[in-house]
Amino acid sequence: MTDKQILVLGGTGKTGRRIVSRLRDLGHPVRAASRNGETRFDWDDPGTWPAALDGVSALYLMAPPLSADPTEEIDRLLRGFTGRVVLLSARGMAWHPAEDAVRNRAREWTILRPTWFAQNFSEDLFAPGVEAGEIALPTREGREPFIDAEDIADVAVAALTADGHDGQTYDLSGPEAISMRTAVEMIAEATGKPIRYLHIELADFREQLIGHGFPGELATVLTATLEDIAEGRSEYISDGVKRALGREPRSFADYVAATWPSR
Ligand SMILES: NC(=O)c1ccc[n+]([C@@H]2O[C@H](COP(=O)([O-])OP(=O)(O)OC[C@H]3O[C@@H](n4cnc5c(N)ncnc54)[C@H](OP(=O)(O)O)[C@@H]3O)[C@@H](O)[C@H]2O)c1
Repeated sequence: MTDKQILVLGGTGKTGRRIVSRLRDLGHPVRAASRNGETRFDWDDPGTWPAALDGVSALYLMAPPLSADPTEEIDRLLRGFTGRVVLLSARGMAWHPAEDAVRNRAREWTILRPTWFAQNFSEDLFAPGVEAGEIALPTREGREPFIDAEDIADVAVAALTADGHDGQTYDLSGPEAISMRTAVEMIAEATGKPIRYLHIELADFREQLIGHGFPGELATVLTATLEDIAEGRSEYISDGVKRALGREPRSFADYVAATWPSR
């Protein structure tokens, strides 16, 4: 228990709201921030930044979502901030500008580099496909060690509140890599609903993202991370959960069982 304020950006998102809930359970004063959150914070409106950061001693930082190079914004946000920063980054080179900006600016920092989240199937990008019974992706039979957002939240809370994580970069993955087809089959089994996995070409996937409003540069980066999966470049397991928490990460089967309890 402490009276030090913790600011959680993306406080309504898949990791942010889990972090807020854990911190509140532990008795920490927390500001859950986003454009529509309890505390207003909008990357596109720097006028909202100072009040959100006022009196804050630890910050969960999620970079501006539609920016391929957020160096300038992070630099500006952290100017004069003397607290601890935990950055949600991602596996892959494309996210290094945000990491460098945090390492250069923050006095104390921890970087979290997760793989694709399991919760994308229930709370985000792939959820409409699960609902509609058909998921079309350009990943072929490539495998990804999906990380559970619950594990990211556990690591983030440790880094925000405990000592020993300063200067650490935690590569976070689940314990085994599975293909999108296998993931979809496991969900279909748990929901009792048929869901088809279809392969589409990378260029078509990118066009779909643009159709959903993603800027071209970001659509290219996201498509490239799926190409990494297709080519088998992202199937390796990382030990960040074990290093940060001293325990193994949750499996995709754990996530499926928790999300779609047996009928
Ligand atoms: N999803 C994955 O598989 C995955 C994998 C690795 C890394 N990541 C990283 O995780 C981060 C979050 O991505 P996500 O897709 O998982 O989204 P998310 O955290 O589930 O949702 C995005 C959050 O950001 C807030 N937000 C959106 N636009 C904002 C803005 N202009 N200013 C301030 N807050 C804003 C949203 O709330 P409001 O709408 O209320 O603003 C929401 O709380 C990204 O940096 C991404 O690179 C994601």
